[in-house]
Amino acid sequence: ASNQTSIKLVLLGEAAVGKSSLVLRFVSNDFQENKEPTIGAAFLTQKCTVNDRTIKFEIWDTAGQERFANLAHLYYRNAQAALVVYDVTKPASFIKARHWMKELKEQSTKNITIALIGNKYDLIMDETSGEEIDGARKVSIEEGKQLADEEGAVFFETSAKTSYNVNEVFMNIAETILEK
Ligand code: GTP
Ligand code: MG
Repeated sequence: ASNQTSIKLVLLGEAAVGKSSLVLRFVSNDFQENKEPTIGAAFLTQKCTVNDRTIKFEIWDTAGQERFANLAHLYYRNAQAALVVYDVTKPASFIKARHWMKELKEQSTKNITIALIGNKYDLIMDETSGEEIDGARKVSIEEGKQLADEEGAVFFETSAKTSYNVNEVFMNIAETILEK
């Protein structure tokens, strides 16, 4: 129907940062402590309502393991939106995210909507005090924001485990694309 918009979205990022877990949380409101690595890529869909419009997300969840790196372009080539994911406790995953942001800028559709996501926020938060655990965070909010700004992306920290900010990421992407 004319009231439905499809959004092709791709997830990119180092192995084990939680790409599939973010998708599982968004699509099934579920979490698995020992989620198996993605092989190649997985395709999932999820509908939601934004500003009285039905949005159908068509999601390509890519594999982060290095042996699949040369497949990623097949999935981001036609994507309207990308989530570039890193783990806030893993500096190497942030360096990888920087590479993905650059590659998207050079190789993807010109007006692709990008969100930079620092996942596993729960690992740095002490739930009782509501404060960050000393030394647990390895990538600062400022570093994340700066990288996102450089590439014209939005920035979120999330937890697929607690569902912190997960829906917000997808809603933000949908609103941005509806405005374009
Ligand atoms: P590949 O498919 O290999 O690229 O990995 P992935 O990025 O899809 O990671 P996946 O979702 O499989 O998660 C890897 C591990 O991290 C799993 O054991 C998850 O349970 C765990 N995990 C994912 N997200 C979170 C999170 O927000 N918090 C915590 N504590 N663990 C998480
Ligand atoms: Mg995966």
